[in-house]
Amino acid sequence: MTERDDGPIMHGADMKILGIETSCDETAASVVEDGRRLLSNVIASQVKIHAQYGGVVPEVASRQHVIDIAPTVDRALEDAGVSFEDVDAVAVTHGPGLAGALLVGVNFAKSLALSLGVPFLGVNHLEGHIYAAWLHPPEADPPEDPAASPGFPLVCLIASGGHTDLVLMEGHGEYRLLGRTRDDAAGEAFDKAARVLGLGFPGGPEIQKASEGALGEERLPRAWLRGSLDFSFSGVKTALLHMAQAAQVYPDPTSVPADRLDRVVRELSAAFQESVVDVAVHKTLEAAERWGARGIVLGGGVTANALLRKRMVEAAPVPALIPRPVLCTDNGAMIAACARFQMELRGGDPPDIDVDPGLSLG
Ligand code: KG4
Ligand code: ZN
Repeated sequence: MTERDDGPIMHGADMKILGIETSCDETAASVVEDGRRLLSNVIASQVKIHAQYGGVVPEVASRQHVIDIAPTVDRALEDAGVSFEDVDAVAVTHGPGLAGALLVGVNFAKSLALSLGVPFLGVNHLEGHIYAAWLHPPEADPPEDPAASPGFPLVCLIASGGHTDLVLMEGHGEYRLLGRTRDDAAGEAFDKAARVLGLGFPGGPEIQKASEGALGEERLPRAWLRGSLDFSFSGVKTALLHMAQAAQVYPDPTSVPADRLDRVVRELSAAFQESVVDVAVHKTLEAAERWGARGIVLGGGVTANALLRKRMVEAAPVPALIPRPVLCTDNGAMIAACARFQMELRGGDPPDIDVDPGLSLG
């Protein structure tokens, strides 16, 4: 830990940070001790509200955050068995995400930090997804600290509803963007594919479930973009659309007999999942090899996918650090974990920090 004379530096192994996340459709709060020990993790999901529209409606999301934020934070403190006086810093996602949704969390966190007289930190949501790999529940044996074992550099795949980024992490707060999607994010592609197949929202878990028991009868293309670590998912999505049209399950599946509809949806779901996972795993391994990574970190909602997790573990020549599925999707714990390391780098942020909907990493 380094001393700086331009901001407060917190020492001690048991610093408790309250992490708040409102960038999209989950109002989430969590207390994390020492950047690694997860004392509570409360998530008020708006999934059911947005499901009726087939996607997240920004204004609806902002208004629901206003309703949910105070009770969610109260519950996070209660579950952690701590009071407001025990909180050493308040951290919140300030980007990327939906502007109106981010504003709710940022204003709440700022006011709370000010009233408690503790540091406030604005955290990059994408960086937060990486730090989920540092977390463990208090009752579990702590996993190795990725910074110590396997150590830096780490190659991180962040795959969510809005991003698909390959990032080289050379140290805490040191990132280099190696590749990103040129069109749809992986999660967005899952969500659109699910819509074509008549499945629910969010599409990722629905496609995963619908794929179970598939025989592998169908195959969809992969966009390798050879020589680049970028991704492209719009081609596979269009190929899926054409196959669904040819099988007459899209746009109107009502004339298709139920058993045939089930089979087509199962096989096309599996083919789509295979295609996305295949490219994600190969590109991540290529990046790890090219940059001499000592470990691979996965983060973001898509990395909750069971096939992706299995394939990555099987194929990785270095340790693959994969958070539990509940910590891959949006949560406040990852924000608190990231903030612990940010505290050491810069102490805290000024109270005039704004939301940054287009914030990137590296
Ligand atoms: O990280 P996240 O919770 O929110 C954003 O930051 O966007 O990611 C949400 C995305 C959605 O597109 C969702 O369909 C996808 O993650 N997702 C999955 C799975 N669980 C969530 N995709 C594939 N398989 C899953 N099991
Ligand atoms: Zn996310």
